[in-house]
Amino acid sequence: MVTDDEVFAASARDVTKAYPGVVALAGADFQLRPGEVRALLGRNGAGKSTLIRMIAGVDRPDSGEVRIGGTPLGDGGVRRAAELGVATVYQELSLVPWLSVAENMFLGGWPRSGPRIDYERMRRESAEVLAELGLRIDPERAVASLSLAEQQLVEIARAVRQSPRVLILDEPTSALAASEVAMVLEVVGRIAASGVAVIYVSHRLDEIRQVADSITVMRDGRTVETVPAGDTTTREIVELMLGGESEAAEQVVPAAIERTGTPLLTVRDLAVPPKITGVSFELYPGEVLGLGGLLGSGRTELLRAIAGFDPIVAGAVEVDGARVENPTPARMKRLGVGLTPENRKAEGIVPMLGVDENMVISDFGRVSAGPSISTGRVHRAAAALVRRLGIKTARTQTPIADLSGGNQQKAVIGRWLHADSRILLLDEPTRGVDVEAKAQIYRLVRELAAAGAGVLFVSGELEELPLVCDRVLSLHAGGIRSELRGAEITVDNILAATMAV
Ligand SMILES: Nc1ncnc2c1ncn2[C@@H]1O[C@H](COP(=O)(O)OP(=O)(O)OP(=O)(O)O)[C@@H](O)[C@H]1O
Ligand SMILES: [Mg+2]
Repeated sequence: MVTDDEVFAASARDVTKAYPGVVALAGADFQLRPGEVRALLGRNGAGKSTLIRMIAGVDRPDSGEVRIGGTPLGDGGVRRAAELGVATVYQELSLVPWLSVAENMFLGGWPRSGPRIDYERMRRESAEVLAELGLRIDPERAVASLSLAEQQLVEIARAVRQSPRVLILDEPTSALAASEVAMVLEVVGRIAASGVAVIYVSHRLDEIRQVADSITVMRDGRTVETVPAGDTTTREIVELMLGGESEAAEQVVPAAIERTGTPLLTVRDLAVPPKITGVSFELYPGEVLGLGGLLGSGRTELLRAIAGFDPIVAGAVEVDGARVENPTPARMKRLGVGLTPENRKAEGIVPMLGVDENMVISDFGRVSAGPSISTGRVHRAAAALVRRLGIKTARTQTPIADLSGGNQQKAVIGRWLHADSRILLLDEPTRGVDVEAKAQIYRLVRELAAAGAGVLFVSGELEELPLVCDRVLSLHAGGIRSELRGAEITVDNILAATMAV
């Protein structure tokens, strides 16, 4: 008998899933045809990644059914899902840094010739897939030496290598700059044209419109509606997403800043080879200073050096006008410097610790009573931050790894709020957070600045710089190449400056 399901590359029927204290899926329905690109959209914690985990067999539904190509997945798990043709790129990168690109692309199934691993074949076939996708990445390079963007592209190449029937991409572009995003979108289009069904999770509506045929909007664990990507207005989509319960995401208009007196932070002729050869700027209290620049222009390196994580080869960092000799992370933290790293999984969070511990870790002094840490204080401090940042979590003690991606990101920001940092270095702070939470973060950044903090704001999403910054510096070829102020801060101007045209 031919059932309806048989025409679908993947389907989910009335799927539910609860975790302790959270209903992640409350009856999700989903059908995907071969060759279709379907976007999954919804605010942080809506259940997108959970639905994906059900389809990929990583986790089992409490009730309901998942089918791949018409075949029920049952209790088959990841292995069975893979056999049925599901390949997944997860929200958090999962490459093994010390292995090569090729070894990573064949992870779990290195080709053999007799008793040996067939490195030559692995290298050749990896090179073929990379070339097919238009990627110029040497398969023999160690993954650790690749940029975050390149690592993301290797993850996609690894999934494509499995010739999937269903390719699942959970926020594949959140770590990428505009040019790499275009590359990913093109690759996705090509994959879909060959008949592969694609599930594409993203918070960026412009991207979704470019790549997807249709959008399934999720809210509170339900698939609310599936609409065509082309002719549904942004307003309609956002309303479906938020369910009418949200305040409008208003634009923050920065007040004019008085740049007088002693800067909070002064950077003089800073060199952090090979990318930064001579950077100078000042950050004043009350100021949000944006840093534009192409991917690989050294923005992350600059922030890390200022925070004391990487050695400074030449030049100086001053806080409150006083030079800091040999900045170390501990010294800079004492001076009020807080860095939220771009790669939250590798550097930002301690996965098995609770949300609460992950936040108060930045300053135990504030939650101690005498020589020991007070659990009551930890709890109160964490609860306040959870409220302030709108972090969706069952309890404050929930391990942070159990939070949705966007909520983990908010907790990383909570850490520096807790430490009461005066100089905030935010490296891609809105990565993976939903539209509403983005607006919340902009507002928070402005509030902190209004209270006298200075913020260095790095973002590859150029659209957000005009919304939050007083000034934008563009990094190019190792130095600052331009400065934009106030009304000059537009996407076009930033783009022009970063490309140094
Ligand atoms: N392993 C787990 N244990 C406990 N709770 C979980 C687990 N996985 C997910 N959750 C919870 O289920 C809910 C849905 O999470 P999910 O990761 O599916 O959201 P999402 O839509 O992908 O959000 P984001 O846009 O932030 O990535 C969240 O409240 C999350 O904290
Ligand atoms: Mg997610």
